[in-house]
Amino acid sequence: MKKIYEGKAKILYVYDNDETKLVTYFKDDATAFNGQKKGTIMQKGEFNNAISASLFKLLKSKGIESHFIEKLSEREMLVHHLKMLPVEFIVRNYTAGSLAKKMGVEEGIKLISPVVEMCFKSDELGDPFINDTYIKAFDLAKPEEVEEAKKIALAVNEILKDFFDKNGLMLVDYKLEFGVLNGKVLLADEITPDTMRLWDKVTLEKVDKDRFRRDLGGVEEAYKRVYDITSSI
Ligand code: ATP
Ligand code: TYD
Repeated sequence: MKKIYEGKAKILYVYDNDETKLVTYFKDDATAFNGQKKGTIMQKGEFNNAISASLFKLLKSKGIESHFIEKLSEREMLVHHLKMLPVEFIVRNYTAGSLAKKMGVEEGIKLISPVVEMCFKSDELGDPFINDTYIKAFDLAKPEEVEEAKKIALAVNEILKDFFDKNGLMLVDYKLEFGVLNGKVLLADEITPDTMRLWDKVTLEKVDKDRFRRDLGGVEEAYKRVYDITSSI
């Protein structure tokens, strides 16, 4: 298969000479702080591939379409090849990370309503914060595509919050990416403990990549816990 891109967490291949489909290969590599911290999380690729596949299936069952076609192997997923929006959408239910810092508050405060943030996807620039006027002024995407992506991001929030709550976890925040296929905005990339913050509802223990970012130990166990929960979908 022709490799078209290798990122920090995944490798993209064109599927079987069909440029409309991609195979995403999930690696064990882990990075944090815009690539300054590097490491390996054993079996992360397998866990994240399975977790993403299960969550895309759950979302589909609730009417949210994504790039997901099927899980091909332990580390590989078949997806539709999309024209990606160069924007990351972050949805937050509780304060954590950069939001807690920005607002000068503790982590773990429940927000009155979800916060939606947008960042320009650029490793060189460190994914800077942008808003709708930047998107229009720099022609990063069509305003209606961005509106649709935000709408989907909030609909995803209701479904995932409920799912994790029923399984003992709080969905603190997460990052989504979207792409366009035949004029339709579709959810893409991955939904995993690399891109979500999940806390144990009772102990508030972190069950996500913050264990790696902050050297908390028990990293593999955290990914395995999310894998176990989502494998029941
Ligand atoms: P980042 O943290 O900015 O996502 P990265 O590029 O290193 O960095 P990876 O997850 O390793 O992240 O790479 C996956 C790449 O594939 C991302 O650039 C993502 O936008 C892109 N991508 C995800 N889904 C699709 C898709 N369906 N079609 C085309 N590109 C996709
Ligand atoms: P954020 O608090 O902005 O990140 P940090 O703690 O690194 O300052 O992140 C919010 C959520 O979005 C968190 O679950 C991680 C996820 N995220 C990504 O997956 N990729 C990214 O590039 C960013 C900025 C956030």
